[in-house]
Amino acid sequence: DEVIVTPLIRTTISDDRGDEPCYDGYPASELINKGYEIPHVIGLLWDKRLISKQEAEIIKRIMMLSADHGPCVSGAYATILAACAGIGMSQAVAAGLIMIGPRFGGAVTDAGRWFKYAVDNKMNVDEFLAYMKKNVGPVPGIGHRVKSLRNPDKRVKELVGYVKSLNIKTPCLDFALEVEKITAAKKDNLILNVDGTMAAVLVDLGFPIDSLNGFFILSRTIGLIGHWVDQKRQDSRLIRLFDYLVNYAAPKRREVPPLK
Ligand code: ACO
Ligand code: LMR
Repeated sequence: DEVIVTPLIRTTISDDRGDEPCYDGYPASELINKGYEIPHVIGLLWDKRLISKQEAEIIKRIMMLSADHGPCVSGAYATILAACAGIGMSQAVAAGLIMIGPRFGGAVTDAGRWFKYAVDNKMNVDEFLAYMKKNVGPVPGIGHRVKSLRNPDKRVKELVGYVKSLNIKTPCLDFALEVEKITAAKKDNLILNVDGTMAAVLVDLGFPIDSLNGFFILSRTIGLIGHWVDQKRQDSRLIRLFDYLVNYAAPKRREVPPLK
């Protein structure tokens, strides 16, 4: 007799039951042998779509530009701290990934969401900024701790320059650049940042809003692994913060009163 079991999960992206995985139906080896690359696999697994050569080139560039930004940023610093405490790769990299959030690296999804909202609703920049101030808070994708009009972010210039050199419509990117004109004039570090730039470009390519943070997470994982291996290679010692880096603002030592 046949027993019918209700499936526990439902997948729509991949199938490993044959002799190799199929991504959205396409066998991995066939993708390789027909010249497809990692960005195409991302397109299949994140958006169930065989992206064009041009889209793949843009995604490759986004990944190359955001793979790492030195040891001082929240993610790399957390991974390095963990590596020096003797933590293994997957946990140390996870510690770095946990830092990716609304202020650092994880503003891509929300930047895409709000730039798209503005474009869909035909808002002008003033209306958008007023709306964001009232309802959302800091504009995701705008602002940088160290980059500014005087110290521009070459990664952003590179990506914008490349995308604008192609013959494609980029309404979100155009809007984001208009936002930057106004915000950076108010305060010179309120530039369009890496998160905001990749968000606008990826929305213009049609990637789903919910996938957008994935582009930063994936790319930066390359750097985080590098930082972990780098510390291992150097056999780095445990890190302990120096007292002089801390403002001890707790009450002065005092006598504990008798227990009542
Ligand atoms: N929108 C509106 N105002 C902003 C924004 C923003 N995105 N960012 C900063 N400000 C304002 C603040 O309200 C504050 O104003 P005030 O001086 O009148 O109080 C002032 O600028 C300074 O703000 P801080 O948070 O101290 O600035 P900081 O340099 O520390 O912030 C940060 C950098 C965290 C990136 C900030 O700009 C921000 O939250 N941006 C939005 C999130 C984002 O896009 N993060 C990704 C950064 S890129 C990356 O991580 C790869
Ligand atoms: C990054 O790519 O990590 C950043 O732009 C954040 C930073 O502070 O440099």
